[in-house]
Amino acid sequence: TPTPTPTSYAVSFTPVPANMDDKVTVPTGYVAETLFSAGDAVVAGATAWTQGSYLTSAQTEQVAGGNHDGMHYYAIPNADANVRGLLVMNHELPDYNILFASKTYNAATASAEDKKIALSAVGVSVIEVSKGTNGQWAVNRTSTYNKRYTGNTTYRMGGPASGITGSTAIGTLNNCASGHTPWGTYLTCEESTDNYLDPTRPDNHYGWVVEIDPLNELAEPTKRTAMGRFDHENTAYLTDTNNRVAFYMGDDGTPGCIYKFIPSRAFSPSNRAANTDLLDQGTLYVARFNANGSGDWIELTQGKNGLVTGAIDPGNVSQGPVTPVTVDFNTQADVLINTKAAARVAGGTVMDRPEWITVAPDKTILCTLTNNSGRAVVDAVNPRIQNRHGHIVKWKETGDSPLATGFAWEILFLAGDPSLVTPANNLTGNINGDTMSSPDGIRVDPQGRLWVQTDHSVPGTSGVTGKTIEQVFGQNAMFYVDQATKRVQRFLVGPNGQEITGLAYTPDLTTFFINVQHPTGQWPEAGKEPRSSTVVVRRTDGKPVGA
Ligand code: FEO
Ligand code: CA
Ligand code: CA
Ligand code: CA
Repeated sequence: TPTPTPTSYAVSFTPVPANMDDKVTVPTGYVAETLFSAGDAVVAGATAWTQGSYLTSAQTEQVAGGNHDGMHYYAIPNADANVRGLLVMNHELPDYNILFASKTYNAATASAEDKKIALSAVGVSVIEVSKGTNGQWAVNRTSTYNKRYTGNTTYRMGGPASGITGSTAIGTLNNCASGHTPWGTYLTCEESTDNYLDPTRPDNHYGWVVEIDPLNELAEPTKRTAMGRFDHENTAYLTDTNNRVAFYMGDDGTPGCIYKFIPSRAFSPSNRAANTDLLDQGTLYVARFNANGSGDWIELTQGKNGLVTGAIDPGNVSQGPVTPVTVDFNTQADVLINTKAAARVAGGTVMDRPEWITVAPDKTILCTLTNNSGRAVVDAVNPRIQNRHGHIVKWKETGDSPLATGFAWEILFLAGDPSLVTPANNLTGNINGDTMSSPDGIRVDPQGRLWVQTDHSVPGTSGVTGKTIEQVFGQNAMFYVDQATKRVQRFLVGPNGQEITGLAYTPDLTTFFINVQHPTGQWPEAGKEPRSSTVVVRRTDGKPVGA
C-alpha cells in the first residue's frame, strides 16, 4: 500500500540565501548564540582551553572534545525542561588545531601523552544547561551531572558478542550521530570499526552502539553488541501500544545497509531500572528494498538466511565487479562482529551511504542517503550512478508496527540542482525550492516539522565543470522540508569549512541546539583558532522555532 499523504505544517520564517560568510546565518527575527565549544570546561573546576595554550591529557579529559556531532536534550527530574536540562553530545573527532602546536596527529609517531590527549577529545560530553532571564542559555559549570566519556574510559561489553570481545573495552571512538531510548538513556554510535588513534587496540572493540545513562542511575556505559557492528551513524526508535520498540540504524559505509533491532521484550515506561540491559537481547534485521516499492526485514540470526559456516559474501557489487569471498558464521557472535558481510549474505540492499534516520510523529521513517559517487550499478531505491548529491528515502512499517517484517517505501527527493544540465543528468535532482547536496542530519521535531542538515565535502566538486560545490550550493546548511509539497527552505547557513550536524530542542521548541563541526575560518571568535561548537538558535519573540 502507498504511504499516506503527509501533513503540511505552516512555517513563517523567510528562507536565508546560500552564502560563504564566516558566521552562522539565521532568518530575520532569529539569533544564533555560541553555547559550548571544543576545549570549554565540562567537569567542575576544569581548566578550559585558551588561545595559545595546550592542555595536558589529564586536563583534556575534563573539557569538551572536538567535532561536536549528534546530541539529545534530556529533562532533569523535578526541573522545568523548557529552561533547564542536560545536553548530551558526541565528539566525532578531535579538533587537533587546539590540541597540538602542529595542529595535526599521526598515530604512528605520536607519543603516549599525545595519544592520550587525542583519545580524550572524542566520546561524549554531558552538560547541564539553563536559560537566563535575558533569554540566553549557558552551561552550569558546577553541575554534578557534567561528565566526559572519552577514548580512554573503560566500557562494559554487553550482548552475545561479549564472549569473544571480552567483558570490557577501552575507549569509545568516532562518535558520530546518536539516539536515545524511551527510558531516557543516550546511544552514542561508533562510526568506525577500527581504532585509528591507537591501532594496538583490538578492532572488535569498536563499531558498536554504546548506551550511557546521563542521570547515572542505570548500568555503567555499555557497548550493546546485539545491535551489530558496522559504521554506525545514529539510532531512531518506533514504539507500539504494548511498549515494544524497534531501533533503526544506518551503516554509513560505501555503500552500507539499513538495519533494525527489536529487543526481545517490552520496555517499562514507569520503571527505568527494568530496562537495564534490555538492549542485550533481541533480533537484528537488515532491510531489502524491492523494486515494486515494498520492502522486507531479513533476520540476521545465525543458521537463518544463509548465515552458516562457509557462507558466500557477494561483496559490494553496487560499486562494480567484486570477487565473492567465503565467510564463516558459526555463532551469533560471528554475525554481530561481521554484520556488514552478514547483511550482504542475507540479501540486504546496499544503499548510498545511509546517514541519519528519524521517526516522525505519524510513524513515517526517513533516512538520508548522503551520496555515493562510486555507484556503478543502480537499483530502484538507489537510482543514480555516481550519486554525488544523495537523496532521502522514507518508508512506513506494515501496520505502523515496530515488529513488522515488511514496509512500503518511496524516495522523498533526489538532491542536486535542477539548473544543472549534464549529459549524464545524474546531478540534477528534483528538489522543489532551495537546493542542497549531501543530506546527512535529519530529524522530525515533535510538531512534525522535518529538518535536514548537509555535509557536502569542503573543498568539494559539484560535478559541474568550473564550479566548486560551494559555488553551487553555498556552505553546509540546515533546511526545513515540507513533507506534503516537498518544498525545501534554507533555514541556517554555517561558517567557513564546516558541516552542520546535530539537532536537539527543548520540549516547547523555543530553543534549538545545533552543532557546527570542523569550522576552518575564524569562527566562533575572530582572531582565534576555529573551534567546533554548539549554537543556540531561538526567536527574539520567544515563539517556537519554525512555527
Ligand atoms: Fe560521521 Fe556518517 O557521518
Ligand atoms: Ca553524519
Ligand atoms: Ca556525512
Ligand atoms: Ca563529520
